[in-house]
Amino acid sequence: MPKDPSATISHLAELNCIMTKYLKRPPEDPFIVFNDWYNSAKDQEGLHAHVMHLASVNYLGQPSLRTMMLHSVMNKAFLFFTNLQSRKSLEILDNPHVAICFYWPETKRQVRIEGVASKAPDQLADKAFKNRPTDHQINIIASDQSRILLDPAEFEQNIAKTAQKYGDDSIERPEKWGGFAITPSRIEFWQDQPFWMHERLVYTDHQGEWSHSKLYP
Ligand SMILES: Cc1cc2nc3c(=O)[nH]c(=O)nc-3n(C[C@H](O)[C@H](O)[C@H](O)COP(=O)(O)O)c2cc1C
Repeated sequence: MPKDPSATISHLAELNCIMTKYLKRPPEDPFIVFNDWYNSAKDQEGLHAHVMHLASVNYLGQPSLRTMMLHSVMNKAFLFFTNLQSRKSLEILDNPHVAICFYWPETKRQVRIEGVASKAPDQLADKAFKNRPTDHQINIIASDQSRILLDPAEFEQNIAKTAQKYGDDSIERPEKWGGFAITPSRIEFWQDQPFWMHERLVYTDHQGEWSHSKLYP
């Protein structure tokens, strides 16, 4: 940031020119911004665009975090798939309040989302499972995600047994695998700008109506 005040003002004016259109005139619906940013990330970062961090909270109030893939945005909810007996799933089934966070380095953007997760319909899980490569399906069946693995050889044997059991037959989704849909109550968009002039736009849900505010960086 320049030290001379007039230079500061012209510098701010310059920054203002590059401020994102959404900060100048935020749309009523945060999904307009999300879909636009997500599509840009997909164009520029390929598969990495789907990578998000998911926080759940256990019964003691202890948060835990892991990296996940966003499957899709459906009916204004963020969908992901996992083992329903995993640590995250057990925590979510106990306490559905979760947070997810995306960081897209190519566009220098972050999106933070808070909301409530609910189990996705079985038909969606069936379809998502069907679209997985066979080896992936076999490993999903053979794995007890998040449980202690005493003997890796046993896991390998389970994989071999599962592969043998199905042969060339199509594989049904096991009940232990499914999805969660996160319905957001707060969505914050963060755009990197030079000199810590980052832009922050936060949307909050009020029973189906979104309000928005800008935040200091
Ligand atoms: C890039 C990346 C994507 C991942 N995507 C998923 C995913 O979509 N589903 C999943 O169950 N685990 C995914 N994982 C593994 C999770 O980070 C985690 O190890 C696993 O789900 C077990 O977490 P839990 O013990 O907290 O339940 C991914 C890991 C990475 C690094």
